[in-house]
Amino acid sequence: MSNTNGHHANGHNGHGIKQSRFGDGSHGDSLQGSTGVQEFHALHAEDASTIVFTEEDKQKIAEFVARYPAKESAVMRALWLAQEKFGWLSIEAMNLVADTIPMPRADVQGVASFYTMYWKKPMGKTHLAICTNISCMLCGAYELYNYIKKTYNIGNGDVTPDGLLSLEEAECLGSCGTAPAMQVNNYEYVENLTLEKLKAFLKARGLEK
Ligand code: FES
Repeated sequence: MSNTNGHHANGHNGHGIKQSRFGDGSHGDSLQGSTGVQEFHALHAEDASTIVFTEEDKQKIAEFVARYPAKESAVMRALWLAQEKFGWLSIEAMNLVADTIPMPRADVQGVASFYTMYWKKPMGKTHLAICTNISCMLCGAYELYNYIKKTYNIGNGDVTPDGLLSLEEAECLGSCGTAPAMQVNNYEYVENLTLEKLKAFLKARGLEK
């Protein structure tokens, strides 16, 4: 069974990349403590031979490239395609994107490292990005964020040992009018979040504790 990110409930993402590398119980605030810049977790795929594009993928990337005057402009869409396909962006996946466009590998890694929506390590089957920017903070976002931290014993950027849940302290999600806001798996928004609503969301996903 897989979700929209290609992650499988059995701890694999369906592409030979095990979630178990995060089963060591580590729960440090790996993204906190930096100066607002996300720490760059550039990990290698455990089986790099699985990091390949099909002819259809290559065709899609060629179509992205054709939309812009400069081929490098297709990098964000191509990285997104790679993340959807592989579940996260290993160095091998970034290099594959670079070689397919083609453009310098360092430039692709630079783009991937800048944006938090690109995952540089496998995240949980359910990934919660809770906004703690000003509007959300004023509306109680830290109560929600800290609830997840304490209840699941994970910090910013961490994954639970079973690979089912990961947490991110997000900057403004563009949903300030319905703060506090949470983004799930980079797609779904949960707005006007309360602790009760968060608990109900977790329960509906079989993640309550
Ligand atoms: S401050 Fe949270 S969505 Fe804008």
